[in-house]
Amino acid sequence: MGRIGLLYFLAGVFGGFLCSPHVEAASDQSSLFPEKLVHLDFKGAPLSIAYMESVFPLLRAMGASGLLVEYEDMFPYSGALRNLTARNHFSPDDIKRLLDAADSNNLTVIPLVQTFGHLEFVLKLPDYITMREDPENPQALCPSFSLSNIIVRDMLRQVAHLHKDRISHIHIGSDEVFVIGECSRCKARMFANNWTTDDLFLDHVHTITAFTRSLNLQPIMWDDMFRKIDIDVLRTKNLTKDTDIMLWSYRNVGEGEADLIEKYSQANFAGIWVASAFKGVAGPSEQMPQYTLHLNNNIDWLKVASSLENKVKLRGIALTGWSRFDHFGSLCELFPVGIPVLALCLKHLSTGSHDARALEDIRELLRCNRPIPLASPEDAALMWCGYPGAMTFVAVQRLDQFERKRLSIESTSYYKGFLTPMNLKHNFSSPALVRDAVVKLPAAMDLLDTVLENIQHLKNVCDQFTLKEWIETYWQPQKDWGQALQTVAEKLLYHKTFPRRPLYN
Ligand SMILES: *[C@@H]1O[C@H](CO)[C@@H](O)[C@H](O)[C@H]1NC(C)=O
Ligand SMILES: *[C@@H]1O[C@H](CO)[C@@H](O)[C@H](O)[C@H]1NC(C)=O
Ligand SMILES: *[C@@H]1O[C@H](CO)[C@@H](O)[C@H](O)[C@H]1NC(C)=O
Ligand SMILES: *[C@@H]1O[C@H](CO)[C@@H](O)[C@H](O)[C@H]1NC(C)=O
Ligand SMILES: *[C@@H]1O[C@H](CO)[C@@H](O)[C@H](O)[C@H]1NC(C)=O
Repeated sequence: MGRIGLLYFLAGVFGGFLCSPHVEAASDQSSLFPEKLVHLDFKGAPLSIAYMESVFPLLRAMGASGLLVEYEDMFPYSGALRNLTARNHFSPDDIKRLLDAADSNNLTVIPLVQTFGHLEFVLKLPDYITMREDPENPQALCPSFSLSNIIVRDMLRQVAHLHKDRISHIHIGSDEVFVIGECSRCKARMFANNWTTDDLFLDHVHTITAFTRSLNLQPIMWDDMFRKIDIDVLRTKNLTKDTDIMLWSYRNVGEGEADLIEKYSQANFAGIWVASAFKGVAGPSEQMPQYTLHLNNNIDWLKVASSLENKVKLRGIALTGWSRFDHFGSLCELFPVGIPVLALCLKHLSTGSHDARALEDIRELLRCNRPIPLASPEDAALMWCGYPGAMTFVAVQRLDQFERKRLSIESTSYYKGFLTPMNLKHNFSSPALVRDAVVKLPAAMDLLDTVLENIQHLKNVCDQFTLKEWIETYWQPQKDWGQALQTVAEKLLYHKTFPRRPLYN
């Protein structure tokens, strides 16, 4: 969508906005990132197709221009690759529906296929153990083994085929290749060619990018493995001119990133993108949205883009929303929980502002009872919204309220001093203080039951498996704690008289 289109669009969604004095700034800010991609990470938390159909119009209205789709094991790999798939993988028809829904909302789609590191979903399998660089670690593949190249090419070919004529770019990942140049095959090759591990890395990604281009797709790669590679080394390779690079940093973005962008520009990468985050980076088991962290991250990226405006033209920004830290990790913030913070970040990227007026626009768009509590982050009053999947956000807020109640129970001196294993073992405690220790427990447990009711909606947002996992990870341990505490209190309160000291023979 061009600048004029965008202005009309904003005028439609945020009526009256054009009358504000921010108009010039608004269009200028927006052009710093022509593309604003929202990352959909299906790693063990696949959004259902019906949910995506319902939420894509909202993503468009929030200011997204496209989607970076990380299928991982949800892609319907077939033939020799059929064992790579999760048992609940999408069907080819699901992929078509996803693409149709993206099309009808003017969202470009860029699939992301890992081709080097973070191939846990492939390398964990018995079939592919020989492809590991380190036999003990299913993180990165050996780039010097013929099977690795056969598998990776087949993956790219299959993804390209199911997106035929509907995509122009493909993201080939290649971040965080933690193990490289360690196996005997790689060592022999490095010795024979007088290569460093950087040379080995560049050789593999060059093979992949060349293959990607043979499929008529422009490759994009994560940048972290390039950060330390000397610019003269990059210049001598033919990799950069045919490849887009995507710089990622999810906090403390500043001069370092600006310098890297200039370096990549001088190394003649075909296109330069950046990536911020809206969820999935604060901690591997965080559930509540982190408004300030992600807003600041996106504000910083906009500043960097603005400082380089006359030197480097960026292709766009991807707002990443990680489902897990890696394939084996626990679930991070759920997608619908990230929607308000995503709206906030997109708003700032489009208009350069997140003032009270902007927060009010977001409140209206997401149909919430109150604006995002940016000014008072400690404010824990419930935020109810009407966007697709918002009930899971209510569940998570209530779980957070429960956790506060649990902390307040656990921090009393009654709890700390009168319900210890010693008290329990000897049936020996002060009945009044035991009662005080658990006086707030029934209300807390009622709240926890409401969390369980509210989170059932996750079945529609994702599927029953994600729901089961969330309950097992985040709800059940709280339930177990509450029940155990109740049992201890009941056992202690059963006794009306107490023995003479000492309690020991
Ligand atoms: C897939 O896994 C099954 C069961 O482990 C195995 O028998 C089969 O050979 C594998 N297929 C391929 C194509 O690797
Ligand atoms: C998508 O873009 C086309 C042409 O640019 C426009 O006609 C159409 O209204 C847009 N649709 C949406 C949902 O924004
Ligand atoms: C191997 O490469 C290094 C630079 O990486 C160079 O200094 C050295 O001369 C090379 N050795 C041979 C035998 O080519
Ligand atoms: C780079 O490409 C040029 C021309 O296409 C070719 O002559 C040269 O050998 C290539 N260099 C490498 C390192 O592949
Ligand atoms: C504590 O009470 C329970 C019954 O509630 C009893 O079975 C147990 O033997 C008692 N323990 C001691 C150390 O008296």
